[in-house]
Amino acid sequence: MEQTPPSILIVEDSQVLREVYSGYLATEPYRVAAVETGAEALAALARHPPHAMLLDLRLPDMDGMEILRHVGAQRLPTAVVIITGHGSVDLAVDAMREGAFDFIEKPFNARRLRVTLRNALERQRLSSLLDSIQETFDRDRYHGFIGASLAMQAVYRVIDSAAASKATIFITGESGTGKEVCAEAIHRQGPRREAPFIALNCGAIPHDLMESEIFGHVRGAFTGAARDRVGAAGQADGGTLFLDEIGEMDLDLQTKLLRFVQTGSFQRVGSTRQEAVDVRFVCATNRDPLKEVAAGRFREDLYYRLHVIPIELPPLRARQDDILLLAEHFLQGFAAEEGKAFQRFAPATAALLRDYHWPGNVRQLQNVIRNVVVLHQGETVDPEMLPPPLSEHLITPPRTPLTEPTQPAPTTAAPPTTPPTPGIQPLWRVEREAIERAIAHCDGNIPRAAALLEVSPSTLYRKRQAWQSGEG
Ligand SMILES: Nc1ncnc2c1ncn2[C@@H]1O[C@H](COP(=O)(O)OP(=O)(O)OP(=O)(O)O)[C@@H](O)[C@H]1O
Ligand SMILES: [Mg+2]
Repeated sequence: MEQTPPSILIVEDSQVLREVYSGYLATEPYRVAAVETGAEALAALARHPPHAMLLDLRLPDMDGMEILRHVGAQRLPTAVVIITGHGSVDLAVDAMREGAFDFIEKPFNARRLRVTLRNALERQRLSSLLDSIQETFDRDRYHGFIGASLAMQAVYRVIDSAAASKATIFITGESGTGKEVCAEAIHRQGPRREAPFIALNCGAIPHDLMESEIFGHVRGAFTGAARDRVGAAGQADGGTLFLDEIGEMDLDLQTKLLRFVQTGSFQRVGSTRQEAVDVRFVCATNRDPLKEVAAGRFREDLYYRLHVIPIELPPLRARQDDILLLAEHFLQGFAAEEGKAFQRFAPATAALLRDYHWPGNVRQLQNVIRNVVVLHQGETVDPEMLPPPLSEHLITPPRTPLTEPTQPAPTTAAPPTTPPTPGIQPLWRVEREAIERAIAHCDGNIPRAAALLEVSPSTLYRKRQAWQSGEG
């Protein structure tokens, strides 16, 4: 599939050997470059990662293992083949553990080198093919996220591209849309994944304790400060600091936070000593940050410091296709946890879940399913099992055939979308049900269903598409 010839980088401090190896590869269809030092190798990797690298572990300026680790940490698409001295099997094993594709023991002949590199290139080709397939094809899970909708694919892609950098990420979204899930995904997707992820909820901590929570304090700084304490900023050194509900932070503290974000250093409460740390900031709020700025509750300079890469999590109602995916996932999880037999949703239940507007988003959906599993028995979730406010949306679908009189809806307080007159439903719902019934009757064959309904198949396709994108 590759049009350009594969590129190979030889990293070897001996000039004689560099020439020998390049000579061995002269007959192969490769673009071969050779460098002498670790620094040159890193520079070459930064410019243009080769498809494969032949790496001597003993270099004048650094341990070759460092370069190998760099390739792994940066997820470079380079297959590394290590050159080891005779008898240094331990080193070779270490290198394989660090992600080397293969090792080749000195001295080796041309044939051995060509075969080893050919295998390495093949493996590199397959793994980048796999990567591109995974990237092109829609993902229905991503770290803690479940969701296959277009809106979520866009979120996954932003995280993919932003995770490796240190740039601050600013997550917005209604309550329960997964802002914390998002912050963790950023951390786990990036090179800091082994370092701490420290989450600080600025809304949950009393204002007068907040400064010490972020920056820590020294003994005696205030009443009750019996010993020195490391704050979230110190704990997150090398990792990620997640400032959740940043909109709740005091203006006073915002000033200190701004200084910290700008300089990477801070003072503990009661101390005059500056401490410097290396943290990646992720923050989140369910308020509209620009409104907060306009209202004077959020410092504008801090906002622009933090608002480098925005991620907006879509509300659940804007990704209707994800609702059932999530609901099924929660149903399985909670059923297993609670020792219940639930396996599926009745079609009418599924329709209710899909059409509800979910003001509390994924968290609300999670609670609804938990409620059903705890309070009911059976394998199928029937609409009657749904708790309020969903149960208020219960409608009794007209039975087939249509000539049979419909049952009056159970009379509870009428929600805004359900008309108060029993047996009468909004026209769109009647239409949608009629269409869905016809499609189900024809086992999903839309042209046949269209024929029965005496409309054109394209009408059905169009309507279904409109429902799926949340218009219907
Ligand atoms: N896409 C998703 N897939 C699976 N679980 C999710 C998803 N989004 C959210 N959740 C779950 O929903 C709950 C709420 O998510 P989270 O706490 O991240 O939301 P939030 O946006 O931070 O909400 P709030 O603004 O109220 O703090 C959590 O239990 C989380 O695991
Ligand atoms: Mg949250």
